[in-house]
Amino acid sequence: MKYLDQKTIHSMSVKELESEIRKHNKLYFEIHEPEISDYDFDQLVERLKKVNPKSPVLHEIGSDIRKGIVVPKITHTSLMLSLDKCYNVDDLMSWANKFEGDVVSSPKIDGCAIEIRYDDEGKIHFAATRGDGVKGEDVSANVRFVPDIPKMISIPNLEIRGEVYMPLSIFKKFETEFANPRNLAAGAIKQKQPSKTGSYQLSFFGYDIKNRKFKHEIDKIGLLQKLGFKTGETREIKKEKDKMQKEWDRFLEIRNKLDYEIDGVVFKANLIHEQDRLGASAHHPRWAIAYKFQGDSGTTTLQRVEWSVGRTGVITPIGMVDPVELSGAMVSRVSLHNYGMMKKIGVTVPSKVVLIRAGGVIPYLQKVLDQKGKPVEVPKKCPSCGCPTEIQEDFLRCTNVSGCRRPKLSELEHFVKAIEIDGFGEVLIEKLYDNGFVEDSADFYTLTKENLLELERMGEILATKLIGNIQSRKEVPLHLFLQSLGIRELAKHSSKILVKEFGVLEKILKAGEAELSAIYTIGPVIAREVVAGLKSKRPLIDKLLKQIKVESQPRASHKGVLQGKTFLFTGKLAAMERGEAEKSVAEHGAEIASGVSKDLDYLVIGSEGYKNREKGNKWIKAEKVINQGGKVKIISEEEFFEMINK
Ligand code: IVH
Repeated sequence: MKYLDQKTIHSMSVKELESEIRKHNKLYFEIHEPEISDYDFDQLVERLKKVNPKSPVLHEIGSDIRKGIVVPKITHTSLMLSLDKCYNVDDLMSWANKFEGDVVSSPKIDGCAIEIRYDDEGKIHFAATRGDGVKGEDVSANVRFVPDIPKMISIPNLEIRGEVYMPLSIFKKFETEFANPRNLAAGAIKQKQPSKTGSYQLSFFGYDIKNRKFKHEIDKIGLLQKLGFKTGETREIKKEKDKMQKEWDRFLEIRNKLDYEIDGVVFKANLIHEQDRLGASAHHPRWAIAYKFQGDSGTTTLQRVEWSVGRTGVITPIGMVDPVELSGAMVSRVSLHNYGMMKKIGVTVPSKVVLIRAGGVIPYLQKVLDQKGKPVEVPKKCPSCGCPTEIQEDFLRCTNVSGCRRPKLSELEHFVKAIEIDGFGEVLIEKLYDNGFVEDSADFYTLTKENLLELERMGEILATKLIGNIQSRKEVPLHLFLQSLGIRELAKHSSKILVKEFGVLEKILKAGEAELSAIYTIGPVIAREVVAGLKSKRPLIDKLLKQIKVESQPRASHKGVLQGKTFLFTGKLAAMERGEAEKSVAEHGAEIASGVSKDLDYLVIGSEGYKNREKGNKWIKAEKVINQGGKVKIISEEEFFEMINK
C-alpha cells in the first residue's frame, strides 16, 4: 500500500487529482488490487470535490466497466446512490441540524450493495449490484446461493436493498489471496457460474425497502426482520451531539468483536416526510450520512518476518512488530498478505513502518518509512517440512504439498471436523502426526489405545473415550465423506449436489468432467477440479473404504419429482444451452413436449424474456390454454432450476 499524506494531496493540481482518482478507481474496481487505502482514496475525492466540484471524474467513481466482458445489466427502479460521509461530530451535527426529528443509527458494513426485487408471488424476481447507480450487474441467479437472503417473502412485489458481505470467520480462509473481505464479497456475488457464489458463504444485511410507504425509517427494519432478513444492529438515537458521538464510540469499541468489517456508522433521519423534503443530490441522499472511522494508523518497528505455511502449501509472510495500539487493540503481528505484496511494499528488517487499520479490523502494513534495514530473506526451504520452496507469481509455495507437515496437519484437522469425530483438537493431531501414529486420515481408524497412551498427559479414560469416538464414526453419510477429502471445490454445497445427482460413491468416482459440468449448479470449473481432486485422492479413498462404510443415498426420490411431466422451453436461457436444459429434463424422468397443448405441464420462459414480459407465441398460447382451464404452468428459468434441484 502506498501512503498519501495531506500535504501531498493538497499540492496536487486538479488534473493530477483526476488522474490519480481514475487510476485508483480502476485499480480498485477493475483490477481488484488497490494500492492506497480507502481512507486515502476518500481524501483524494474530498479534495477534488473542493477544488473542482463539477469534475466529471466525480461521476465515474465506483463504475465497474470490465472491458471486453459483456455483463447483463439491470436498470434500477430508482437510483442507487452512495452515502455522503463525514469524519467528525461537528460535521455530523451540521448535517443533523437540517431536519426535524431524531435519527436512526446502523453499522456501515463494508460489503457490496445489492437490490433484490420480489415478484407478485413473493419470490425473487431478480437481483442486481449497484453498478454505476443507474444500472447494475444481474446477479439474480447468484443471490440464490446466499443463505441469508430469503428466497420467498410473505409480502409480494417488494424491492429490498442491503449489503452482501463476507463474514471475517470465512474470510480467514482466503486471507492470503485477497486484500480484503469487501473485494472478495464483490467478486463472489458476481461469479459467472452462480453456484460458485455458494462456496464463498456470503451473508446479507437488509437496510432498505424501496417501494412501500413508511412513517419512520426504523419501521423498515422491523418489517425486514419480520420478512426473514438479518439487519445490522439498528436503533433510534436522540439527535444530540453527545448521544450520536456515544453511538459512534460504541461501534468503534465493538468493531473488533464483530464477524464483519464495519468502516463507520450510518445515521439517517427517522421521519420519512423529512427525508422526502430533504431529497437527494446527484450523488447522495441528504437524509443519510456515514460518520466514518478514520484509518487508525500507528508507527512502530518491524523486527522480522516469519513465514507461515497454509493448508494449500502457500507460505505467507507475517510481520512481527513492536506492539503498538491501533483502535484500542494491541497489535504485534501484521499481515503482509503474500510474497508479491511484500516485495511491492519494499519491506526491509528492521525498519520503521506505518501500520493502519483502515475501514476494517485487519491491520496491515501501509508504508515503510525507512528502508535502512536488510531485505527480507525469502526461505529457500519450507519452514514446516524443509523441502524446497518455489515462487509462483505472487505466492511462495512449498513444493511438497502432499508430504509437507503443515498442510498435512490441516488436512487431518479438516477430516475429523468433516466426519464429526469428537475430541481431536489441533494439539492432539500434531502429537499423533509427529509420533508417526497418524499420517493420513485413514490412520485414525487403526489407531489403538496403546498408541494414545504413549502420548504425554494421556490417561486410560480419555484414551478409551477417543477410540470410542472414532469407532462411532465408522458409518458416514456420503456427503460428509466427500467433504472430508478436503478437495477445495468439493465443500458442503457441491458434495450435497453430487449425492443428490448420483446417490452412490462409485458413480461419483466414475463420472467424467462432461457429466459433472452438465449439472446446473456444478459447471465446468468445479467439474474439472472435482475430477482431478478425486483422482489424486484415489489411493486415500481406497484406504478409507477399507475402514469405513459410506452410506449411499439412492437418488430415486428426486427422480420422482418431475417423473411423467412434460416441459417446453421458450426464449433464450441465460444459464445454459437449450439442449442441456432438455437433457436434464430427461434425466429427471420428464419429457419434452412438441408444442403448447392442453397436455403440457410446464412452459419454461428464459430469464430475460420472463423479466421483461416479452410474450412470444408459445407464452400467449399457453395463457389461452390456461384460460380454457388447461393445466399448463408458466414458469421462469430460475423456477425450473429450483424444481430440478429440489
Ligand atoms: S443506507 C444511499 N445503511 O454504503 C444509500 N448503507 O457508501 C443508503 N452501506 O451503497 C444506504 N452499510 O451499500 C446504508 N447500514 C447501512 C449501510 C450502507 C453499508 C453501504 C451501501 C451504500 C454504501 C454507501
